Amino acid sequence: MESMKQDIQIKEAIEKKSGEVTIHGWVHRERGSNALKFIQLRDSSAIIQCVIEKEIVGEEKFNIADKIQVEYSLRIFGEVREEPRSPVGYEIHVKDFEVVGESNEFPIGKDFSEEYLLDVRHLWLRSRKMTAIMKVRSTVFGAIHDYFRKNGFYEHQSPIFMSSQCEGGSTLFKVDYFGHPLFLAQTWQLHAEAMIFALENIYTVAPSFRAEKSKTSRHLTEYWHAEMEITWADFDDVIDVGEGLIKHVVKTVLEKNKTELETLKRDVSKLEPVIDKPFMRMTYDEALKILKEKCKMELEWGKDLRTLEEEALTKLYDVPIIVTHYPKVVKAFYMMESEKNPDVVLGCDFLAPEGHGEIIGGSQREHDIKKIIKRLEDQGEDIKDYEFYLDTRKYGSVPHGGFGLGVERLVKWICNLDNIKDAIAFPRTMLRYVP
Ligand code: 4AD
Ligand code: MG
Repeated sequence: MESMKQDIQIKEAIEKKSGEVTIHGWVHRERGSNALKFIQLRDSSAIIQCVIEKEIVGEEKFNIADKIQVEYSLRIFGEVREEPRSPVGYEIHVKDFEVVGESNEFPIGKDFSEEYLLDVRHLWLRSRKMTAIMKVRSTVFGAIHDYFRKNGFYEHQSPIFMSSQCEGGSTLFKVDYFGHPLFLAQTWQLHAEAMIFALENIYTVAPSFRAEKSKTSRHLTEYWHAEMEITWADFDDVIDVGEGLIKHVVKTVLEKNKTELETLKRDVSKLEPVIDKPFMRMTYDEALKILKEKCKMELEWGKDLRTLEEEALTKLYDVPIIVTHYPKVVKAFYMMESEKNPDVVLGCDFLAPEGHGEIIGGSQREHDIKKIIKRLEDQGEDIKDYEFYLDTRKYGSVPHGGFGLGVERLVKWICNLDNIKDAIAFPRTMLRYVP
């Protein structure tokens, strides 16, 4: 079969408004009578109605058209005409067509359960909903790289096979590495902290793995993690980068993905404040006070904010909330103790509005090697596993910090999805690993 690369996209055909075009795509919907066949043709750019008339294509060709079903792939030669009843304002009057690939009884029609749609995810990806989300996701990844590169960060990659934990042992995936137990990376952080001595300001966008046994709407076992580490920097510098990054990503999506957000029925007025308004910053103590006063929720000091509290809190504001100064007991070993109060650490969580919750976790890093050792030992860790990491505090240690952004969490919020599984093409959770 010849190349079809010279054909134009459906969007271009619509923009052309008139004249002859050759397009190709898949049949989104079809209906017909004995002399007319209507086909909604879809490609990655748009959908347009194509009308096939027996009188024009001839009896023999029309018999082929009559057999066309949903998800046939077709190449169509025809004329673009204005059509006020069409949602795109135009349709194609078909002069000739070619069946590229047949499709018999496509297994997705109307009204299927969420679980079934996950079983046939490889086919459901063709839906308008998933297509729109995947386009937004592509913009989000592009905007993340953009932001870091424009701000002088080097892109750096850390290993995925890891010899130690970083974010707690309970979510580690063990792998058999030639008979030796290793883990899949939960974060790039420990190796990133070694790399800053060469590159100073670095970022990555890479998969992270968490053996999450909880079935929630915001946990995956494999997710994409955008992380950064900055040097000669304090806690506020870390937070400022996080705020700048999210503002840039949301702004870019609002510019580039109007159509997709419309398809997803996303109320964009909920995203607009994020671009210009400063984010809400509050300490953990202040968060507890607000929860008590405004939400009638009492949380004991020293307990981590749960989904419940995060949801209540984020519904009070139209911009993300940055909660800082968490109790040391609920945060990772590497977070720096506050000079004013050693019971709290310079760690922050960014909580997305509308109940979406944590999208970023970050901190100033502890530079006191004795404190790091003590906290690792308190957690029952073997210091021998952290020798390379401890070296980062022995040879020219500098103030530094960083954060990790869960890209699917960000997409979930931007598109206002009910479940994080829809923010990634092939989700992995405890019970879902096929297809
Ligand atoms: O808060 P976390 O655990 O922080 C870290 O891993 C740090 N080492 C990052 C750093 O400072 N370089 O994870 C960071 C973010 C969370 O805020 C969340 O958005 C996302 O990663 N995340 C998950 N996303 C999807 N599924 C999961 N199971 C996730 N666990 C964390
Ligand atoms: Mg966290």
